[in-house]
Amino acid sequence: MIYDQARVSSDAWPPRAGVKEDGMDEQRGAEWPDSRAFWADKRVVVTGGSGFLGSYVVAALRGRGAREVVVPRSARYDLRQGEAVRQLLSDARPDLVIHMAARVGGIGANREHPADFFYDNLMMGAQLIHESWRAGVGKFVTMGTVCAYPKHTPVPFREDDLWNGYPEETNAPYGVAKKALLVQGQSYRAQYGFNSIFLLPVNLYGPGDNFDPQSSHVIPALIRKCQEAKERGDTAIEAWGDGSPTREFLYVADAAEGILLAAERYDGPLPVNIGSGSEISIRDLTEQIARLVGFEGEIRWDPSKPNGQPRRKLDTSRARALFGFESRTPFEEGLRHTIAWYREHHLAAV
Ligand SMILES: NC(=O)c1ccc[n+]([C@@H]2O[C@H](COP(=O)([O-])OP(=O)(O)OC[C@H]3O[C@@H](n4cnc5c(N)ncnc54)[C@H](OP(=O)(O)O)[C@@H]3O)[C@@H](O)[C@H]2O)c1
Repeated sequence: MIYDQARVSSDAWPPRAGVKEDGMDEQRGAEWPDSRAFWADKRVVVTGGSGFLGSYVVAALRGRGAREVVVPRSARYDLRQGEAVRQLLSDARPDLVIHMAARVGGIGANREHPADFFYDNLMMGAQLIHESWRAGVGKFVTMGTVCAYPKHTPVPFREDDLWNGYPEETNAPYGVAKKALLVQGQSYRAQYGFNSIFLLPVNLYGPGDNFDPQSSHVIPALIRKCQEAKERGDTAIEAWGDGSPTREFLYVADAAEGILLAAERYDGPLPVNIGSGSEISIRDLTEQIARLVGFEGEIRWDPSKPNGQPRRKLDTSRARALFGFESRTPFEEGLRHTIAWYREHHLAAV
């Protein structure tokens, strides 16, 4: 059994398949395929389809009527193993692969397991791209990451600046492994005509995110911290760093929409940012989350903990121009959905 139920319920995210993006969609409509017609005959493998982002992509594929969606779980197909990759492709015979399986985590997890972050992400991607080319897969969509950008990239991050420096040290093994997959896809396109595209999603958030303090990203970590402090009646919480770095966040359902638009409409070698184009400091973010959660205590900054990359904000014009993607969910609305989801699942688990 390789198909696995996505864990996102329809009330967590109303699918918006078929909704026009904006005026651009109408302008370019003649060149772009109709979404439902594109997916109607496609057998799609979504690696990482049981994960946070993957669940939304699977839900969106269902919303668009994809012929078959196969979600390989790591227990059966450990995609770091070449044999498992070959077995998956032989079992599923996909027309299109969306590769989202990855070892991911926040700064703490990246610092504790740099070797795993490098090896797992490189080996999964390298073997999947190679074996998919060998198996005659029609299109391959690789998920990169904003962590691939150089530490001191001018803001907003433009795709053309990807190679102008080394990534921020704490997430370099993860970022460099992902970047290698960009080169692999471009090489296979150049030598074999393999249709491989590479997307760079910014930091994501939303219902279904990972709230485990050992491995979570900043938004779920702060929501949990504020909620637990509120429940205990604490007068203060501690936050990492000095609050000065800025970040961009994209609502996970919007990211899934961007990925599917790219899969449908974009067939080129250039890497493409998938973001919201907004920027917020960690200090403002922490205060906003505390307010929305209802935690009224003090926020104490711990400058002995790393800040991570100083600024992050993507230039999102390429995605808009090449496949008409723009994010839609206002940040505060997305945060409210995320907090509501966490409370529902947190309280249910207590
Ligand atoms: N979350 C973000 O903010 C963010 C931002 C930018 C880019 N991305 C990219 O988006 C993708 C999805 O991220 P996510 O946050 O949704 O991740 P996630 O929730 O941690 O999900 C990871 C998925 O990878 C699968 N996986 C891990 N190791 C595997 C292995 N050895 N063999 C087969 N499958 C394996 C897991 O499958 P099992 O459950 O079966 O183990 C799981 O479905 C990743 O490529 C990530 O780099 C994420």
